[in-house]
Amino acid sequence: MDSSSPRDSVNRVLEATSNSARLYGNGLGMIASENIISPNVKRAINSDLHGRYAEGLPGKRYYQGCEDFDTIESLGIDLAKKVFNAPFANIQSTSGTVSNIGALKALAKPGDSITAVSTADGGHISHARMGAVGLRDLHVSTYPWDENRMEPDIDGSCALIRELKPKITLVGQSVFLFPTPLKELADAAHEVGSTVMYDGAHVLGLIAGGVFQDPLREGADVMTGSSHKTFPGPQGGFLLSSNEDSKFQRKLNNSMFPGVVSSYHLHHVAGKVVALAEFEAFGKAYAQDIVKNAQAFAQALAAEGFDVLAESRGYTASHQVLTRHGDIDSGAGATAAALLEKAGIITNMNMLPGDSKAMTPSGLRLGVQELTRVGMGPREMEEVASFYARVLLQNEDVKAIKNDVHHLKSDFQHVQYCFDSEDFPAYEGM
Ligand SMILES: Cc1ncc(COP(=O)(O)O)c(C=O)c1O
Repeated sequence: MDSSSPRDSVNRVLEATSNSARLYGNGLGMIASENIISPNVKRAINSDLHGRYAEGLPGKRYYQGCEDFDTIESLGIDLAKKVFNAPFANIQSTSGTVSNIGALKALAKPGDSITAVSTADGGHISHARMGAVGLRDLHVSTYPWDENRMEPDIDGSCALIRELKPKITLVGQSVFLFPTPLKELADAAHEVGSTVMYDGAHVLGLIAGGVFQDPLREGADVMTGSSHKTFPGPQGGFLLSSNEDSKFQRKLNNSMFPGVVSSYHLHHVAGKVVALAEFEAFGKAYAQDIVKNAQAFAQALAAEGFDVLAESRGYTASHQVLTRHGDIDSGAGATAAALLEKAGIITNMNMLPGDSKAMTPSGLRLGVQELTRVGMGPREMEEVASFYARVLLQNEDVKAIKNDVHHLKSDFQHVQYCFDSEDFPAYEGM
């Protein structure tokens, strides 16, 4: 049992918070699901809204005192519709998983069937029986996977959809290198009366920036996603739809409140709306730079001698790059991630095609969206790839590499692609 006093505990939390900011401020954050927020998003999050409630929708509340928040949420709904070119937007979700739980609730009943990408092929846990799909008691069948193209095998997946007639045809992954061949899958789904749900958690910023794919025009009826990955807002989620029918839209709104949220973290909603406005101004350039950097990074890693996946397709069309560091199921990905951390490079191990165990995978999933956000470009991607080679191929002393990492990062301490960043350190609290 920890015997420290309450005051000690407070101090320890605050100290660990500063240490974490220092780790990322001095190092290279390369986890594909993470990002940092702009000064104005931070201001909105640190506001009095943190402690408030507003159940319902703007103008239809169960609480008094919501007039100012109504202004914020109404503006946010309009901006989300514009930024994602969506006829319907709900911005109340507190995470990508919550968006998925809400959508699954709106679109299917317990006992219904669903198709999705398996977690081994890069699908998210919320698409599986162990996650949200199981919570809704849906029966999931997974698509056959094309390992060379790193996407669902089109013919096999269309055949599965036509045979199973799932209530929901769910697509999108956590390991997401290339756009989903959505039109073909959506045609098969709609033929058998299935609703197409696209989980854009990882790639939402790329979609809004016009550089990945356009799911709501390629056949997706509903799009879910996180607001804090390539879309660079605070932690939260979006629920979007191409369907203009008011009854369908009401069902989606109800799936959020009263479906899966009561308080929906009003300070984060305010931050999300600021992020939407900043995305309108800067998002296209940001999204383009992310993909440019991911491709430059993949090429530089391959040139250093790493096994980078999907060479035949140009390695990546998203923010992610996948590398294999040893035999299948060898745990080489875990070893690589641990060594990189010692050099100040924060990554995560990941299962790659062939791996069967999540704790001993052979690969890494790397993301460049955070480094792009602080202003790094293709030249820095080459330097970062050379750090990887020094740690993992040349077995150099990690302390020396960590110093060089710190030196590189010291020039990239401000969030770009936003307003008012000059005087605000990106990693406040260091
Ligand atoms: C495809 C996919 N969907 C949903 C989520 C869950 O998002 P959140 O962490 O916002 O709940 C993730 C998380 O990484 C994801 O990769």
